[in-house]
Amino acid sequence: GRCYRIATIPGDGIGKEVVPEGIRVLDRAGALFGFSFEWDQLPWSCEYYSVHGEMMPADGLDAIRNHDAIFLGAVGFPGVPDHISLWGLLLPIRRRFEQYVNLRPIRLMPGMNTPLANVAPGSIDFVIVRENTEGEYSDQGSILAEGTAQETVVQHSVFTRRGVDRLLDYGFRLAEKRDGKLCWATKSNGIFVAMPYWDARAELIAGRFPGVETSRYHIDILAAHFVRDPGRFDVVVASNLMGDILSDLGAACTGTIGVAPSANLNPAGEYPSMFEPVHGSAPDIFGRNIANPIGQIWSGAMMLEQLGEAEAARAVMDAIECVMIEGPRTPDMGGRESTQAVGKAIAEAMAGPADAGPAAEY
Ligand code: NAD
Ligand code: IPM
Ligand code: MN
Repeated sequence: GRCYRIATIPGDGIGKEVVPEGIRVLDRAGALFGFSFEWDQLPWSCEYYSVHGEMMPADGLDAIRNHDAIFLGAVGFPGVPDHISLWGLLLPIRRRFEQYVNLRPIRLMPGMNTPLANVAPGSIDFVIVRENTEGEYSDQGSILAEGTAQETVVQHSVFTRRGVDRLLDYGFRLAEKRDGKLCWATKSNGIFVAMPYWDARAELIAGRFPGVETSRYHIDILAAHFVRDPGRFDVVVASNLMGDILSDLGAACTGTIGVAPSANLNPAGEYPSMFEPVHGSAPDIFGRNIANPIGQIWSGAMMLEQLGEAEAARAVMDAIECVMIEGPRTPDMGGRESTQAVGKAIAEAMAGPADAGPAAEY
């Protein structure tokens, strides 16, 4: 049968607790739908760093470039500075494998409690298309006049035409397949060079998609609309940093960051794509088995979709929905159950091909 080779990087903190639950559910999906996984477990993490002085081996990325996908938990833990751990593992994967689209669905699922008033399940359903390889995330910059009263730190943002255009193009194509609405985040009133450039590229590319209704918001009011009127959004395109901030805000609006999934896509398929939850390693709750595994499991559903296993992806989503409505809950969802109890419940709630419903939706 079909077998997928997955580079598996639990990473740090609760990544090590939620990745096994993702594997549990995906293995079950494979058993039900006639395929299997080879989970190549890689120990790359802050612990690995403390032993080897690097987050992964120098040839680490070469070793996984032919895998079908990467399934990652979280990276970063107290003891190793975040810029060292993240620039040593997570960010190089995104950059080297040209995973320039970070797809982050924001959906209020049945059974989930939102902190917002007057929103019903189904009324929040949009997707953040975040630029994932350049922009504000840059290692270019310098410290001038260091140690003097004139000490000045310069941090460059880098926006290439290729990088901006390919992201926007992806966003518009996605909007065509969804509800035909796209907005992009800007800050062209304050960021003098980069954001007017971003706006100009967006307007140009919008001209190629006359069927898509486009709008643009400055990032500050966009954040406010996420809270006041999230139903207006369909596809939200944003730069790297703006998309990062909007992701956690959007996740919070739909209940808890613990359920939010993401896909780091290399759309051309030249390199593997990576699937990981939006959240991090949560050192504050690590070791207590109370981390919500749903963000990891939902990311697994996105991986199935990308591997071409759409029916299995739908079955995972149906099982997640089932458990959100009436299954065990971790504390972030107001319950008292463990990471494993939720993972097992989702695996058990999964139904095989005969019982599958209508098309999956991401
Ligand atoms: P975080 O997402 O790890 O945690 C933020 C808060 O949300 C914490 O209170 C945590 O307990 C809670 N939380 C997160 N995931 C949860 C889950 N699945 N279930 C229940 N509660 C959950 O963000 P942070 O504290 O800013 O970062 C901690 C570390 O993780 C840092 O090193 C950071 O750089 C790293 N990080 C990594 C990634 C990634 O690998 N993609 C993402 C974000 C943060
Ligand atoms: C995320 C994370 C990362 C990011 C960090 C850990 C570098 O916050 O995946 O959202 O900012 O992209
Ligand atoms: Mn983030």
